[in-house]
Formats: sequence, C-alpha cells, structure tokens
Amino acid sequence: MNAALIIDAAYFAAAFLFIYGLKRMSSPVTARSGIVVAGWGMVVAVLASFLYTLDVEEAAKPHLTTNIILAAVALTLGLGWAWWSGKKVAMTAMPQMVALYNGMGGGAAAAIAAIELFGHKTHGSVGLSLAVLGGLIGSVSLSGSLIAWAKLDGRINKTLRLSGLQAINGSLLVVLLGIGAYTVYLHGGVTMPVLGLFFALALVYGVMMTMPIGGADMPVVISLYNAFTGLAVGFEGYVLNNPALMIAGMVVGSAGTLLTLLMAKAMNRSVSNVLFSNFGATGDEEQGEIQGSMRPVDAGDAGINMRYASKVIIAPGYGLAVAQAQHKLYEFVKLLQDNDVDVKFAIHPVAGRMPGHMNVLLAEAGVPYDIIYDMEDINGEFKEADVAIVIGANDTVNPAARTNKSSPIYGMPILNVDQAKQVYVVKRGQGKGYSGVENELFFRDNTNMVYGDAQKVMVAMIQAVKSLDGGGH
Ligand code: TAP
Repeated sequence: MNAALIIDAAYFAAAFLFIYGLKRMSSPVTARSGIVVAGWGMVVAVLASFLYTLDVEEAAKPHLTTNIILAAVALTLGLGWAWWSGKKVAMTAMPQMVALYNGMGGGAAAAIAAIELFGHKTHGSVGLSLAVLGGLIGSVSLSGSLIAWAKLDGRINKTLRLSGLQAINGSLLVVLLGIGAYTVYLHGGVTMPVLGLFFALALVYGVMMTMPIGGADMPVVISLYNAFTGLAVGFEGYVLNNPALMIAGMVVGSAGTLLTLLMAKAMNRSVSNVLFSNFGATGDEEQGEIQGSMRPVDAGDAGINMRYASKVIIAPGYGLAVAQAQHKLYEFVKLLQDNDVDVKFAIHPVAGRMPGHMNVLLAEAGVPYDIIYDMEDINGEFKEADVAIVIGANDTVNPAARTNKSSPIYGMPILNVDQAKQVYVVKRGQGKGYSGVENELFFRDNTNMVYGDAQKVMVAMIQAVKSLDGGGH
C-alpha cells in the first residue's frame, strides 16, 4: 500500500484519539482513561512518522540509516527520562514538571524552525512567516518555561525589578519581529549570524518576560507558555505539511489559552495584570492591622465536635498536598459519615498550585466525586453548615478578598467558609498563604486554629472519634 496513504490514515486516527482523549479528560470520572487514549494517539503519530522513511527523496537516501538511528536514540532518551521523572515526581512538584515538559515542546518547535531556516529550505512566504513565528514563540516558551520551572522549584527566588524593563522588552520584541520580517522579505536568504541572533534574542526575551513575574503567578504563566508551545507546534506543522502536528498544536494552543483565561478569571485578574504586576512577589504590601487574636484548639476536641455536627464542609488547599494528608482525611470523612454527618468538599478553582490539584489529590484517596463540589455550587451552603474545616488552605478562604481594597487578593472570589457556625483551620503555624498576605479569617470569633501538620492532625481527629465511638456508642 502507498506509504503516504497509511501516514494520512494514521494521522487521522491520532487526531481522533487526541480529541477524544481530551473530551474524556473533562470529567474526573473518565480523565484517567482520557490520558491513556491521548497517549495512544501520540504513539500512533510517532510510529507513523517513521513511515516517511519509505517515501524519501533520492537525495535524502544516503542519510536514512543515520537519521533513523538518531531518531531512535532521541526517542529512547526522551522515553527513559519521561518514564523515570514521571514515576518519581512528588504530587507537590507536578507544576514544575509540567513547566519542564512544556518548555521541551516549545524547544522542539523552535528546533524545527531552526532546521528549516538555517537549511534554507524552500517555502512560500506564508510557510516562511509561520516558520519564523513558530521559531520565535517556541524559543520564548522554552526559555520562559525553564525560568518558571526554576522559580517554582525554589531555584530562583529573585523577582527582577528594573525600571524601564517593559520598554526594554518592547524594543527587544520590535527587533525580533524586524529580523523575522527581513527573513521573510529575503525569502529566507539571511545569513547564519543574523538567524543565530534571532534565536538567541528570542531566548533572552523569554527570560526577560518571565523574570519580573512573582512565583505565585507561575501556574498561570506556565499555562500561557503551554498555549504558546501549542501555537508554535501548530505553525511548524503547517511548515512541514504535517497534519498531526497541526492538530496537536491547535488542541494544545486552545486548551492552554482557555486554561489561562479560566485561572485569571478565578483570581479576578486579567492576564496582562498577571504578566505585568508583581502579585505575590513580596508579600509586604500595606494591608492594615487585623484586630483580635487566634485561638488554638486541640485536634481531638475539634474532631469530636464534628462527629456531633449535622453538616460539615471541608475546604482543602495546598497544605493538604504538602502533608499528603488526603488518605487520612478521607478516613476521617468516612467516620463522620458513619455517624450520619453530611460531609461535602468545597473546591476553589485555584486551590493548590495547579488547576485541578485538589481534585486529583482527593481522587487519589478514593473520595467519591459526588461529594466534591465546585466553589460556585457550594458557596451558598456554608451558612447552613455547622462546621467548615479549612485544611492547608489560606488565600482561597481569606475574607479580605471581599472587602479589603488594599489587599493584593482583593476581588478574588473565595470560599464562604466564614459563614459557617464554627470554622476550624488546620495549619502548622503562622505561615502565610502563597500571596503572602495575613488572613482575617483566623482572627474571627467563630474560628479556631488547629495547629499541626495536616496528616498528624487528621490522625489525632480519627483517634479521638474512634475512642469515643469505641467507648459507648
Ligand atoms: P495557600 O494560600 O498557598 O496556603 C497554604 C497553607 O497551607 C499555608 O498557609 C500553610 O500554612 C499551610 N500548610 C503548608 N504545609 C502544611 C502542612 N504540612 N500541614 C498543614 N498546613 C500546611 O493555599 P491555597 O488556599 O490552596 O491557595 C492557593 C494559592 O496559589 C492562591 O494564592 C492562588 O492564587 C495561588 N495560585 C494557584 C493556582 C492554581 S491553578 N492552583 C494558580 C495561580 C496561583 P503553614 O505554613 O502555617 O502551615
């Protein structure tokens, strides 16, 4: 059979699997299988690429064996690294890994552009323009994602503040677009040093664009770079006339764009505010004095109080992931349910450090999806709850977001935990949330603090309720 026909059919199948897989990822019930389906799509697309070897031009034939060996070595290295790092990555380090993988995607798109441009391959002006744009966007995504990785991983703690930085970045972008336009104008006939300068400046631009953004905003930035990578891959797919790349790029590009907008909306901020302001960079903003004091309570007492409640709503946050307390938490929830307590989970859209972070954690512990609620679906129920328990969450439950105009999180929608009759906040000490602001909730009359690592606190609560039920109920 004709190799080109098989390649086209395989790409069609791969595109179908990508889109069907993505569709399945839209619900936690089917998400796991969605990832497997999309993964098979990738296997089909990669294998189909090897069929090109059956159909190469005469001129390329002498390089065929070397190219296949190089591709096989690259695949083995990539697979080995991804397998090893994917297996060992901690749940809390997932955003860093996403940043790294995303950077690699951008780099791959930029590498395709580099080969096309440095190799002076023949393209029409549309193909050439897309190669140049893909090279620019892919390079920015590569270096920007690496900086985002380093910031999330705590390897870079500095936030670059330079007066006139935006003017410098603006000029850099104008130079980059100028070189790109010049390349298209000369039909790709620019010299090697000029092209080298183009890619080097694009990488510098990615660094300069990311360095001024605070660590708290990195998930949004990564999602934005994800959209960039998709766009770059889609453009290079057009350049190579490869439909699988075009479709995969468009899917990633649009998913990344939607995710970026959703996250920005959940924080009530615009994407430009994320990119050009310093939210969470210092945490020493003027917020005014908070009146009152924090009142600690014993974990066991809090657990027993919940055992006698009718309705308990749990607001989990980043600290739950840090403590890996999800299994113990669910064990406690089952104990409460055995005592006819109505227990629900309230998930803030940006709780944790990446989209869906809490849903993944709770799914890992086996919490059924029908007791997990999105913020807008449960916020009206807090006023009927006897107890709201906040576990390792902070910014997402800070009432200052509603009222304090000087707070950096002002305007961000929050979980209405403060409206419950009694609020327990589980955290280790006086640590602030990711935005670095103090939390008014902790000082309220209906709030008690349960200090300790979330996992240890859950163990204490379980023991208290068990000893109570074991001794007389
Ligand atoms: P945070 O505001 O970061 O608060 C987490 C709290 O957990 C801290 O106050 C910390 O206090 C506590 N904690 C840490 N380790 C703990 C442990 N082992 N046991 C018990 N408690 C522990 O978390 P959040 O409420 O989930 O908010 C998420 C933040 O990330 C928001 O500012 C959000 O805007 C930002 N963000 C998220 C995303 C996505 S997509 N999720 C995207 C962009 C930005 P102690 O140190 O006192 O224990």
